[in-house]
Amino acid sequence: MGIKRLLCISPGGAAAVHARCGPLRDWDLCIVGTLADAARALHQQRYLAGLLLDNGGGNAAALDVFFRAHWRTRWVGVFEAGLMDNACWRDLASDHLCDFHTWPVDPVLLNHTLGHVHGLADLRERSARGASADSAHALTGDSPSVVRLRAQIRRIASVGAPVLIWGESGSGKEVTAREIHDHSPMAAGPFVAINCGAMPASLIQTELFGHERGAFTGAAKEKQGLIESANGGTIFLDEIADLPKELQVNLLRFLQEKTIYRVGGTRSIPVDARVIAASHVDLQDAVAHGAFREDLYYRLSVIPINVPPLRERADDLTTLAEHFFSQYCNEKSPQLKGFSNRALHAIRSHDWPGNVRELINRVRRAMVLAEGELITPEDLGLNHIGLGPVTGGLDTSRASAERNVICACLDRTGRNISKTARELGISRATLYRLLSKHSIGVRAAG
Ligand SMILES: Nc1ncnc2c1ncn2[C@@H]1O[C@H](COP(=O)(O)OP(=O)(O)OP(=O)(O)O)[C@@H](O)[C@H]1O
Ligand SMILES: [Mg+2]
Repeated sequence: MGIKRLLCISPGGAAAVHARCGPLRDWDLCIVGTLADAARALHQQRYLAGLLLDNGGGNAAALDVFFRAHWRTRWVGVFEAGLMDNACWRDLASDHLCDFHTWPVDPVLLNHTLGHVHGLADLRERSARGASADSAHALTGDSPSVVRLRAQIRRIASVGAPVLIWGESGSGKEVTAREIHDHSPMAAGPFVAINCGAMPASLIQTELFGHERGAFTGAAKEKQGLIESANGGTIFLDEIADLPKELQVNLLRFLQEKTIYRVGGTRSIPVDARVIAASHVDLQDAVAHGAFREDLYYRLSVIPINVPPLRERADDLTTLAEHFFSQYCNEKSPQLKGFSNRALHAIRSHDWPGNVRELINRVRRAMVLAEGELITPEDLGLNHIGLGPVTGGLDTSRASAERNVICACLDRTGRNISKTARELGISRATLYRLLSKHSIGVRAAG
């Protein structure tokens, strides 16, 4: 596990820690007296676990701000027993601390708690790192269209013929290309991705094909092109419709002869690389309008493959949302547990014009913005969903608005009745009456 570092915020300084907490021998301790010093220490060094003694030199509001800014560290507190009689401190402890003790503290128990919190934090961090590394390129989903796509990928991976992938923006064309490569006999070779639309027209020829020394002013050294660098692997030509027409002929030659010429060169260089191209525009249309060479189109589209838009994979929405939640879980606050039912409903009701990329962006944004234990439709920016045409008159709309506000507030507070009642400005009794009126369950989710 490496060094176990512990940041300890003690308004009474190091002497108070040693006198009141007993020996903290297993720890590489950094003791600071104020929240400002703690913030500085956290800026310089990552601490998985932190120990807060008493009020850490601040009031509850200052500590709330501090903990929100430093949620990646897992905190344990030691307080005077009476402090927990105060609602603000109780909320602070329940929102931000993994555990707390009261004075006088048993050093053995405190060490045990700190070890437990540190161990769990380390485990979570490692599994988050592992999950994002393992799943960064994997095609996630079990909807019928993704199962079909996966089967198609397995079949064509072993064949060396060019593949043309069509799909809307953000639908997963590059992920599909990578899967083909990873399951092909060239998997040990490089996967070189080139976005033909993102490269300036003046550079694209030398980037793709390289150049010989002295080919043009400034070409002091020879340069290998991207196609050559994909030798033994796969070359992925994204947004192929953007490839300038004069270069389409060079690419056609490479597809026919499996050799290239560098700019300014006369020797043909053999390159053994599989070509996968992708486009979000209909290439047949581009051919019909004279923007894309017909012969190149037929060469590239030996195996055509369609990546379905996300709206046609509704069965995958929850799986994908949860997949991205765990992939980016090291960016979230520790109290955030997952999606509220309303958020999942909003996800399922949205049309996803930006496809998987839009889902990733909304989930990541919600993970940062969410203030409660569960992500709400508001955090996802999908709160307009469900506000369709009014069907049942004013009373029905009023009741449904009341229900929505209560549900949103419950999500935000992690279904805490006292906090919800306080936030809504009603008594607990009124809240219970409204919960029963709207048949809202209060069992904690996640
Ligand atoms: N089925 C999937 N499972 C997991 N992640 C996915 C899936 N599909 C797409 N992604 C992720 O969504 C993002 C967009 O995917 P990708 O870049 O492959 O789409 P694209 O169609 O090439 O997009 P663009 O048209 O913008 O180039 C990437 O971060 C990718 O990892
Ligand atoms: Mg792409």
